[in-house]
Amino acid sequence: MSQAHLTVDRAFTVADVPHRLFGSFVEHMGRCVYTGIFEPGHPQADQRGFRQDVMKLVKELGPTVVRYPGGNFVSGYLWEDGVGPVEDRPVRIDGAWHSIETNAFGLHEFVEWAREAEVEVMEAVNLGTRGVEEARALVEYANHPGGTYWSDLRRKNGAATGTIEEPFDIRLWCLGNELDGPWQIGHKTADEYGRLAQETAKAMRLVDPDLELVAVGSSNRQMPTFGSWEHTVLSHTYAEVDYISMHAYYQEHDGDAASFLAEAVDMDAFIDGVVSTIDAVKAAGKHTKQVDISFDEWNVWYQRGLETEDQPHQVAKGWQKHPRLIEDSYNVTDAVVVGTLMHSLLRHGDRVRIANQAQLVNVIAPILSEEGGPAWRQSIFWPFARIAAMARGQILRLAVDADQVSTQKFGDVDVVDAAATWDEATGRLSLFVANRGMEESNDLTLDLHGLEATGISSAEVLAIPEERDRRAANVLDDQDAVGLRPLREVGLEDGALRVTLPPMSWAVVQLEVKTA
Ligand code: AHR
Repeated sequence: MSQAHLTVDRAFTVADVPHRLFGSFVEHMGRCVYTGIFEPGHPQADQRGFRQDVMKLVKELGPTVVRYPGGNFVSGYLWEDGVGPVEDRPVRIDGAWHSIETNAFGLHEFVEWAREAEVEVMEAVNLGTRGVEEARALVEYANHPGGTYWSDLRRKNGAATGTIEEPFDIRLWCLGNELDGPWQIGHKTADEYGRLAQETAKAMRLVDPDLELVAVGSSNRQMPTFGSWEHTVLSHTYAEVDYISMHAYYQEHDGDAASFLAEAVDMDAFIDGVVSTIDAVKAAGKHTKQVDISFDEWNVWYQRGLETEDQPHQVAKGWQKHPRLIEDSYNVTDAVVVGTLMHSLLRHGDRVRIANQAQLVNVIAPILSEEGGPAWRQSIFWPFARIAAMARGQILRLAVDADQVSTQKFGDVDVVDAAATWDEATGRLSLFVANRGMEESNDLTLDLHGLEATGISSAEVLAIPEERDRRAANVLDDQDAVGLRPLREVGLEDGALRVTLPPMSWAVVQLEVKTA
């Protein structure tokens, strides 16, 4: 049995829990929109074509903000194609995903869907093939009250399609997507992008001054331009933007589960690096405002090359409508890693103020749905849903004194990975913790300073199911193989929390606390 000793002190906090840290992402990619959130004619679809079985799971998952419509897709997208009477909308080639886009679902439908799902819209503009003019037109279309060309068109289209006529009031906007990547339609150098983003931001704000804008950061930490890209882009845009984006996808390589389970170490270092770059530009430019991070794509994603035998749908063959693309099936290990990635985001909640798990349905997603069939929760659904529901109030700093596990990629790392929040209003302290040990249970103690635990309100764990292994996953024929179960070995002893965590598990314990 490994040991871990955690300490929190109510005087040592990171930040308030950012409401937008529990975001998700809907891209026109594969089956995220079509046969995911939207499938007219499905037995569970309403008259608008919104799948209510999926909607129910989305509400249970609890995302607070959803990025739309891409992703790589947005860099070739003409937003005007997706508005107006559906029968008049053009069918187009989507070059990013080699698919046919019918445009049966567009901005009005998404805003309406988002309202029902009770999520904020985070809209991306195309800075791949387009620029300042189309972006400012879109802001006018979305947010201007009326009496102008684009805002009146919104009202007319809303009336014609029975969707929303009133201003959409979209506050949060991404200035393009992954334009540092050679794969991106309209790929740019940092200087080219930085100037375009700066001018686009300025023009969008001239239409609506109350926007929050996200500049594109590196597509991942391995990009050859990582660091210099952020520096150059922010040197152009610092005064105009509020956030710079980060994207990261993790996967297990060659069965090295120990390193995979420690990928939050990478995420921690990645975030610290971007914070340093932001602050260097701030200091050099003598800026007073603070730019923060929008980690607007993160998840586990098995990017095993293209069209391998075991994952034949990485890239669509031919030109299909909503082909199956990157529909990863997630197992117990993936769920534990997703938990730890969310801990990393929480630990950096003072600077990471927005984060979006990519994506919401079918495409590397916590929710799967079959065309004409059921929808169900993947293993990774559970840590997201519980953290989104229970991380409230202040993020507490955690002092960790734990046994080490050795990994090929990161050397020795703490056997546990954790985050904690404390909500003074409800008197609840939530501890989220993963045991990275693959063979041993972990005997964990949490000491509280400045707080007194009076009870345990809930304790749940996601672990390897009985008579299964760590590869257990929720599939069509066995939709509930992996889930949360009550954590039994938990108690309070002399004011400290004592928990036994099973090997390779993720757990959440909520305590009733009062200030001591
Ligand atoms: O989420 C899938 C894809 O990953 C997105 O379209 C792109 O931005 C990223 O590379």
